[in-house]
Amino acid sequence: MKTLKIARTTDELRLHADAWRALKHTIALVPTMGALHEGHLSLVETARRHADVVIVSVFVNPTQFAAGEDYDTYPRDLDGDAEKLRAAGVDLMYAPSVEEMYPQGFATTVHVEGPAKAGLEDAFRPTHFDGVATVVAKLLIQSGCHVAVFGEKDYQQLLVIKQLVRDLDLPVKIVPAPTMREADGLAMSSRNAYLSRADRERAAVLYRALTEAAAAIRNGASLSEACRKGRDMIENAGLIVDYFEARNAETLAPVEDATQEPLRLLVAARLGQVRLIDNIAVHET
Ligand code: PAF
Repeated sequence: MKTLKIARTTDELRLHADAWRALKHTIALVPTMGALHEGHLSLVETARRHADVVIVSVFVNPTQFAAGEDYDTYPRDLDGDAEKLRAAGVDLMYAPSVEEMYPQGFATTVHVEGPAKAGLEDAFRPTHFDGVATVVAKLLIQSGCHVAVFGEKDYQQLLVIKQLVRDLDLPVKIVPAPTMREADGLAMSSRNAYLSRADRERAAVLYRALTEAAAAIRNGASLSEACRKGRDMIENAGLIVDYFEARNAETLAPVEDATQEPLRLLVAARLGQVRLIDNIAVHET
């Protein structure tokens, strides 16, 4: 098995990344918040197809959580994560401390608009994407990666990061990776671990509602009717829906009718304290 290098500081990360670049190796970064599952490991697989060397960052980023969210209780298992990354043949795990990423006196925030202000996640987590953009900008710059892989599961985040990279001329290619799902369709997420057994079963309604709404749209239903039925289906299963919307897949702008392709359906719903998000393309590309 390949040795997994572990860097806890930016200096250590740079030492390795500089050496790889000197050897003309290309580097892919997979940013994560740890508590790794098969979804993350599929991002690693995608990364491996795009570069010679794979770095996975594991950092629960405090600036993307608002007060009252689950920063303190977010699952953390660095030893378990290292084991999984070693088995997956990852070259380096970068696991900085909060003090390393945000030292005393840190005073910069990357403020994002565009897809970050689409009225979806941002309507419920207004400071979230500035926190994501700030940490991702740091990770991309620190690692000097050529490619970075992000899951489509966090679809709005993916578009925010593409915009960030474009606007700041960061020399990195953003590669999207498809959502990994459990057998009943539930999108894999570290937060699924919070669900009770009964709620875990109910959570599968999100994907069922998305796929039924997408099929209805393909069969000629209006967007408003398809989304209303999707929302009803989820609420009838006992969840509280934050949004269930059809949007332009490239900009997340609202769309009037199904002729305005490419379309993406996006949903967020709450089961007790647990907030779940998911999305699918209406027309597979
Ligand atoms: O998607 C995540 O896990 C996080 O938002 C990310 C991209 C690692 C930034 O903290």
